[in-house]
Amino acid sequence: MTITEERPAPEANALAELDAHNISAWFGDHKVLDRVSLTMPAGEVTALIGPSGCGKSTFLRILNRMHELVPTASMAGEVLLDGADIYDASRRLTDARHQIGMVFQKPNPFPAMSIYDNVIAGLKLTGTRASRSEKDALVEECLTKGGLWKEVKDRLRAPGGGLSGGQQQRLCIARSLAVRPRVLLMDEPCSALDPTSTRVIEETMLELVKDVTIVIVTHNMQQAQRVSQNCAFFLASHGTPGVIVEHGDTDAMFAEPQDPRTFDYVNGRFG
Ligand SMILES: Nc1ncnc2c1ncn2[C@@H]1O[C@H](COP(=O)(O)OP(=O)(O)OP(=O)(O)O)[C@@H](O)[C@H]1O
Ligand SMILES: [Mg+2]
Repeated sequence: MTITEERPAPEANALAELDAHNISAWFGDHKVLDRVSLTMPAGEVTALIGPSGCGKSTFLRILNRMHELVPTASMAGEVLLDGADIYDASRRLTDARHQIGMVFQKPNPFPAMSIYDNVIAGLKLTGTRASRSEKDALVEECLTKGGLWKEVKDRLRAPGGGLSGGQQQRLCIARSLAVRPRVLLMDEPCSALDPTSTRVIEETMLELVKDVTIVIVTHNMQQAQRVSQNCAFFLASHGTPGVIVEHGDTDAMFAEPQDPRTFDYVNGRFG
């Protein structure tokens, strides 16, 4: 008797690794990143830390092709999503932005649009058709994953702009999730929020990371330790382009930094 083994097809939303290789970036002729390489493992949180102006946001925007929105911007290097280059000429720019979502520092829901419509706003942009019941299910799923469902389930038709700052940020997370990204980039997502909202978002992230790879920029060292498994320390010293000084396991990096500059930074000596 022969036994044929059937391999399950990879799920469309299976966990994905993001690999940046030798990323350099410029604004005009000002070089702001120099050959930065970093692996952001699937299903884990990677935190990017470092002083202001060292290129963390620029690096993050390169990871989903938003850097090229700036007219003077240019870059070199490769970004691989599960081994496939997101900058490959045969891939559409919008594919990268759907697969790799972004949450910004300042919550930016569409203020006059209802909570419900905010969540599904991305479907129109991706050209995804969905029935009313499919949309209802998606809205509930994404608001639940975003940690907001219980607070808003009775006022889904109220405007997104009427929520508190922390709720608006969770609405933005839910909106990002609705197009089923494989990676979620978060640029200081809690810096405009109070400690309680920050905690709720951090708990949300720990749940989300089971489904989506997360990369977060944070200036809060405690936050990096609470939410991330991996950490990268960026530095641009004396007007030179940003580089990664040290990266690796978060607990190890905070407990025993290998580079004295990392030690000084994580202990609040500068930045
Ligand atoms: N749109 C832009 N045009 C020109 N220069 C820019 C632009 N955006 C960023 N820069 C420059 O690129 C460098 C890196 O900026 P970036 O915003 O990536 O730093 P950052 O590490 O995110 O800082 P912060 O912690 O303050 O957010 C800085 O020197 C900055 O002035
Ligand atoms: Mg920044």
